[in-house]
Amino acid sequence: MKTGLETLILPAGAAADATAARVLAAGGLVAFPTETVYGLGADAANAAAIAHLYAAKGRPAFNPLIAHVADLGAARRIGRFDARALALAEAFWPGPLTLVLPKTDDCPVADLATAGLDTVAIRIPAHPVAQAILRAFGGAVVAPSANISGHVSPTVAAHVQSDLSGRIDLIVDGGPVEVGVESTIVGCFETSTLLRPGGLSRERIEAVLDAPLARPPAEAESDDSQPLAPGMLASHYAPRADVRLDARDVAPGEALLAFGPARLPGIEAAAAVMNLSPTGDLDEAAANLFGYLRALDAKSPRAIAVMAIPEEGLGEAINDRLRRAAAAR
Ligand code: TXA
Ligand code: MG
Repeated sequence: MKTGLETLILPAGAAADATAARVLAAGGLVAFPTETVYGLGADAANAAAIAHLYAAKGRPAFNPLIAHVADLGAARRIGRFDARALALAEAFWPGPLTLVLPKTDDCPVADLATAGLDTVAIRIPAHPVAQAILRAFGGAVVAPSANISGHVSPTVAAHVQSDLSGRIDLIVDGGPVEVGVESTIVGCFETSTLLRPGGLSRERIEAVLDAPLARPPAEAESDDSQPLAPGMLASHYAPRADVRLDARDVAPGEALLAFGPARLPGIEAAAAVMNLSPTGDLDEAAANLFGYLRALDAKSPRAIAVMAIPEEGLGEAINDRLRRAAAAR
């Protein structure tokens, strides 16, 4: 892989957009903000650039990438939309939704990015910086979250810098992201399937479909088989500290990730306390999740104790990420 690269950091703006487009066209790697998390972009048609991207992240190449485009016309050159997929696209794009669709016959996305599948994941991000870069570049950009594989996803440019500095060409700093968890992934299969809960709630998608979303088969969560959403490995989003879920108390030396009113026994002896949302707002909690996990982990606590979070709205995505952070590695 490319190492020892001089990673340029530019504030978002017209100059950064033009530089990003030039670096992408030359086969380079560019981190940029989307409304969900920061992405690490490469030209979707350039297999060599995509190989560098997998190497820079330390990501297994069997785990396919999401193709990002600026508008529906570009999306339809990549994936085959049925009426249901169009309804979801019209309701939620641009936004925190990824659709997995059959590839078109002349799909411009390199096979390496789709890990040899005959489906492709597509998203139109809403973030103005992502939109500007996609328009300046002109083609599709594959972009996983801009972190070392297995780490917590980045919600500010400094997270990207600490994981990937020296391994990528450019970071465009657009400030903190809004949503804070990755996009919701829906597989447009015979039954519409929730492949990954994320920044768009299940409830809102089901309201448009007027049908429940199926759950992926249980193998999709396992580490060893070829999973349905191959990135959904059991252990992921891993801080260095152990993570203890559904905490009702705090052991000495533990850090506490709180939610809502936090009056737990032992809290006065906590190594640190951060509250995802003192008022119990799940959208606010999602926006704070990855940054707070990184900040608590930096204090090297004995473990990170996490209070229970309701399984509704964005709570489904938050709990999914926390279960992976807590999974044995
Ligand atoms: O919010 C997001 O989705 C961010 C921003 C940067 O757009 N991106 C992101 O990408 O989270 P990544 O690579 O960290 O996660 C992409 C997920 C993986 O779990 C991958 O397995 C799944 O999408 N995926 C990609 N193509 C697929 C396909 N054809 N079928 C099923 N799952 C697919
Ligand atoms: Mg990721």
